[in-house]
Amino acid sequence: MRPVRTIRTQVGIVGAGPAGLTLAGLLGRQGIETVVLENKSRDYIEHRIRAGVLEQGSVELLEEAGVAGRLKREGLVHHGIELQFDGERHRVPLTELTGGASIVIYGQTEVVKDLVSARLAAGAPLLFEVQDVRLADIDSHCPRVEFSLEGQVTQLECDVVAGCDGSHGVSRATIPAGVLSSYSREYPFAWLGILAAVAPSSDELVYAHSPRGFALLSMRSPQLSRLYLQCRPDEDIASWEDARIWEELQLRLGLPGWTLAEGPVLEKGVTPMRSFVVEPMQYGNLFLAGDAAHIVPPTGAKGLNLALHDVRILAEALVDYYATGSKKSLAAYSERCLRRVWRSEHFSWWMTSMLHRSWDGDQYDEKLQVAQLRYTVTSGAAAASLAENYVGTAKA
Ligand code: FAD
Ligand code: DHB
Repeated sequence: MRPVRTIRTQVGIVGAGPAGLTLAGLLGRQGIETVVLENKSRDYIEHRIRAGVLEQGSVELLEEAGVAGRLKREGLVHHGIELQFDGERHRVPLTELTGGASIVIYGQTEVVKDLVSARLAAGAPLLFEVQDVRLADIDSHCPRVEFSLEGQVTQLECDVVAGCDGSHGVSRATIPAGVLSSYSREYPFAWLGILAAVAPSSDELVYAHSPRGFALLSMRSPQLSRLYLQCRPDEDIASWEDARIWEELQLRLGLPGWTLAEGPVLEKGVTPMRSFVVEPMQYGNLFLAGDAAHIVPPTGAKGLNLALHDVRILAEALVDYYATGSKKSLAAYSERCLRRVWRSEHFSWWMTSMLHRSWDGDQYDEKLQVAQLRYTVTSGAAAASLAENYVGTAKA
């Protein structure tokens, strides 16, 4: 199909997830024009339940993008997390161990809603339900994104394309074979997650190591609990009726004198676990950001935070480019991001390995995990290491 319409912008952004929308917000504040293309509907992206923990740096970035009003009012500021093993809970005082840093519990759905409404209120282009998105001439000075919308084929001419279209998007696949190196790790685990209409049974998140497998108690608000269970990657969600999920959560999280409050299950799903990185995160005038370039397993809540860190670096480099005409900062983008990417890859792998039970019940593994957990909560240095990685202040 030949394009029937051509539009022009400075930065074409593929994908309206946290990465694409935040990048658009940051650039908009600096007077840089963007067009954001999303292949799903607004309703779909605003209700796709995913992450819930924001590092302090992520909160500051959303403030800079001008979208933190509701987050500041409704987000739950947490100063610690709990690690549970051998039938006991141990608090890791994040704020105390990091010289004052904290995290904020605020759902990715809410971050996306805030970003979308700010974008639309500003009258800036954000096109939903575009189809047949295709990148062309990404190694030229005028890369293009072709797409169709309501049957009309359009070509978007840009200076730069930001590929923020997640792990299954089209951007990464446009880069010619042989350019990218990829590094990955599969895990034999997945998480069965539920959102439940019940007040969280703990003030802080609980990461639980148990002989039945990992479980996590998290939350979205004072009325909404978010809970996860380690399961198999091919787990059939249909075999997990609500009563069975609660029963398993009680077994993994329960302690003498403490029970988990149960409530109606509003949503449930299975999330597979994977580690994946491509290097470099750039080819020609295409820059990959967020899940388009890397995936972490969810243990440690790094995925969303890493996506936001990428676009902070990309926005700075683009502002520099438009101010000076020099591509020096853009050329350094990938290297600057990858240091933190690999720090988070390591932390997520480490948390995953320490907390998940191997399916063959390997007792040696289990003993090592408990030794590591005990060391983490008894050694100030080990606890501080977990804390600075968790809140995102660890040097990369
Ligand atoms: P995405 O949020 O994936 O956004 C990409 C956007 O691009 C999407 O809106 C997509 O529809 C759009 N898109 C895709 N293809 C095209 C195309 N061809 N054209 C136009 N648009 C396109 N992280 C945590 O820290 N904790 C968690 O609990 C957690 N749970 C998760 C659960 C699931 C099921 C998944 C998939 C991820 C989870 N993550 C979690 C990871 C975290 O949500 C991601 O790291 C984060 O969404 C990354 O943001 P992003 O903007 O890079 O990508
Ligand atoms: C949540 C997800 C995580 O991956 C995590 O480590 C902590 C909390 C959540 O969805 O609330």
